[in-house]
Amino acid sequence: MLAFLILVASWIGSSSQTPGIMDEIAMLESANSSLLRYPTAFTQNIVPKQIHSHNDYWRDVPLLTALSFGVASVEADVWLVNETLYIGHEMAALTPDRTFDSLYIQPLVSIIDGQNPKSQFTPNQTSINGVFDTASSTPLQLLVDMKTDGPSTLPFVLYALQPLRERGYLTTCESNGTCTQAPVVVVGTGNTPLAGVQALSPRDFFFDAPLTTLNSTFDITLSPIASTDYEVAVGWSGIGSINDTQLAAIKKFVGDAHSLNIRARFWDTPGWPISARNNVWKTLIDNGADWLNADDLEAAATMF
Ligand SMILES: *[C@@H]1O[C@H](CO)[C@@H](O)[C@H](O)[C@H]1NC(C)=O
Ligand SMILES: *[C@@H]1O[C@H](CO)[C@@H](O)[C@H](O)[C@H]1NC(C)=O
Ligand SMILES: *[C@@H]1O[C@H](CO)[C@@H](O)[C@H](O)[C@H]1NC(C)=O
Ligand SMILES: *[C@@H]1O[C@H](CO)[C@@H](O)[C@H](O)[C@H]1NC(C)=O
Ligand SMILES: *[C@@H]1O[C@H](CO)[C@@H](O)[C@H](O)[C@H]1NC(C)=O
Ligand SMILES: *[C@@H]1O[C@H](CO)[C@@H](O)[C@H](O)[C@H]1NC(C)=O
Repeated sequence: MLAFLILVASWIGSSSQTPGIMDEIAMLESANSSLLRYPTAFTQNIVPKQIHSHNDYWRDVPLLTALSFGVASVEADVWLVNETLYIGHEMAALTPDRTFDSLYIQPLVSIIDGQNPKSQFTPNQTSINGVFDTASSTPLQLLVDMKTDGPSTLPFVLYALQPLRERGYLTTCESNGTCTQAPVVVVGTGNTPLAGVQALSPRDFFFDAPLTTLNSTFDITLSPIASTDYEVAVGWSGIGSINDTQLAAIKKFVGDAHSLNIRARFWDTPGWPISARNNVWKTLIDNGADWLNADDLEAAATMF
């Protein structure tokens, strides 16, 4: 009983002492102090990672869920219907509201505008901050997977990018090979027509090169990334040991891409069992693959 009373007395006593650091934090937070706010805090503390968000539109919130894990590449499947670009895995999944503009372009405009406030501190700023507050020069890669006919879809995609283009938010290469880095790198895949992308000058829309058949056509001003189907190109299930042929394949394709300054991505990697998925991811990272293609972003983020 005595011990209990002493305990209570010391507890009451401590609450009247000088506030501790946790009290100070709580007080500033509950007062919504201006000392705790800054303009570019939208992605505060998020560290970008070389992860590609496969089927990004399946997530709770397209684009934003991926960014919240620091994912630096997202994929949008676009369908051209009645001159509008809709987002979804198949026609049956489309809705009038879910468009390329509403799910990707407008959110990106507003995030990047927010990361680039005009204030008395920024009159001399020439570079444009990207989406990641912790790494403002890290671009976001937007992979546009054209599901409908390439030559007819391409002009609509290029037009849809105009809000980003006119703000200077798109990485652009001139025909003389000079490239200007900007917050967003847009790359066409799926039905994207190679000839249509090659014809762009200046070019702010790039081409996802074929990783297993790269040749001198492809360079960094055309293809910042090259991809291939892992199942076909490598095939190791992630169970047991990888064999020499499979390991040599990874090294060859990664090496081919790197010799052209192009980044390598393998898609269609095993998703299950988890241990096999992680073995494959780790083997790819260890052998120089640049982008981890992931459905489970939370799990992929733990690989770095
Ligand atoms: C905190 O203050 C800012 C700026 O005045 C205001 O926009 C915001 O709504 C406030 N947040 C809360 C939770 O009161
Ligand atoms: C496309 O336009 C036609 C003619 O206006 C209309 O009947 C049809 O429902 C539209 N389709 C979609 C998917 O909006
Ligand atoms: C911007 O540049 C001018 C001219 O060099 C300089 O006087 C000024 O202090 C700079 N402003 C800031 C916020 O750095
Ligand atoms: C390349 O072209 C751009 C745009 O015309 C020009 O600004 C730049 O100076 C040129 N660079 C070289 C190395 O010629
Ligand atoms: C390189 O590959 C592309 C696409 O696969 C093909 O169109 C082109 O003809 C090839 N170029 C050479 C020089 O082999
Ligand atoms: C590796 O495994 C693949 C697929 O089972 C097989 O085709 C290939 O011959 C194997 N290579 C070696 C060196 O065992």
